[in-house]
Amino acid sequence: MEEAILSARGLNLYYGENHALKDIMIDIPERRITALIGPSGCGKSTFLRTINRMNDLIPGVKISGSFTYRGEEIYAPGRDVTSLRRHIGMVFQKPNPFPMSIYDNVAYGPRTHGIRNKVKLDELVEESLRGAAIWDEVKDRLKKSALGLSGGQQQRLCIARALAVKPDVLLMDEATSALDPISTSKIEDLAAELKKDYTIIMVTHNMQQAARISDHTAFFLLGELVEFGETEQIFSMPRDKRTEDYITGRFG
Ligand SMILES: Nc1ncnc2c1ncn2[C@@H]1O[C@H](COP(=O)(O)OP(=O)(O)OP(=O)(O)O)[C@@H](O)[C@H]1O
Ligand SMILES: [Mg+2]
Repeated sequence: MEEAILSARGLNLYYGENHALKDIMIDIPERRITALIGPSGCGKSTFLRTINRMNDLIPGVKISGSFTYRGEEIYAPGRDVTSLRRHIGMVFQKPNPFPMSIYDNVAYGPRTHGIRNKVKLDELVEESLRGAAIWDEVKDRLKKSALGLSGGQQQRLCIARALAVKPDVLLMDEATSALDPISTSKIEDLAAELKKDYTIIMVTHNMQQAARISDHTAFFLLGELVEFGETEQIFSMPRDKRTEDYITGRFG
């Protein structure tokens, strides 16, 4: 059995009266890619946001049950959320670089964590941009605005920005859905490379993408985790009829 880095037991989330996550039980393995699939509104983004407590900011949210990260309760009273988010980075659907230089985008996180040394920052910036497979494309324009990059480059820059604080887990919510096929394929290759060092959890509406790059797949429906298993099994021999209907395109 692979080591689980994140474990949920009886995890429930309500937005007011709306029961958005129902009794979720899951063990997410470390240094693997886990894909979250399911029709619109089934709770994928909600689940992803429970991992780094991004739902905390939404008024009327109620969360119960157990959710641990490396054995410690994510929702324990007094948990340091800033530090949690430093370990668990996030990349969004729409690339969202800050309106500043490419260099400053990547140096932003490390600077807020107190790193001021120029040599150290230069090193971190280069390492992160290399890690996100965009160094060669930007190394001669580091001082130029990040907003001048293409969408695909901006998304890889956002990945570099997430990597710069040396996270442990990387959450991606439809991170390639706004990108062209070539940029998408670059990010997929990148994810495959990054899983050597990071645990990646990605929401995708693209079944081929889930089948191509994830090791494990979780199928959500109406707030329930219907099925979770090795991607190969989910796509070839789903145990639940609802999973089968979804992956064969009968609904969703
Ligand atoms: N900020 C919010 N406030 C209130 N309800 C919300 C909020 N975000 C999501 N919901 C509700 O929670 C449920 C799950 O939504 P969620 O965004 O997690 O779905 P999703 O699977 O990510 O869908 P999509 O594929 O369309 O992104 C839906 O009923 C949605 O309306
Ligand atoms: Mg979503």
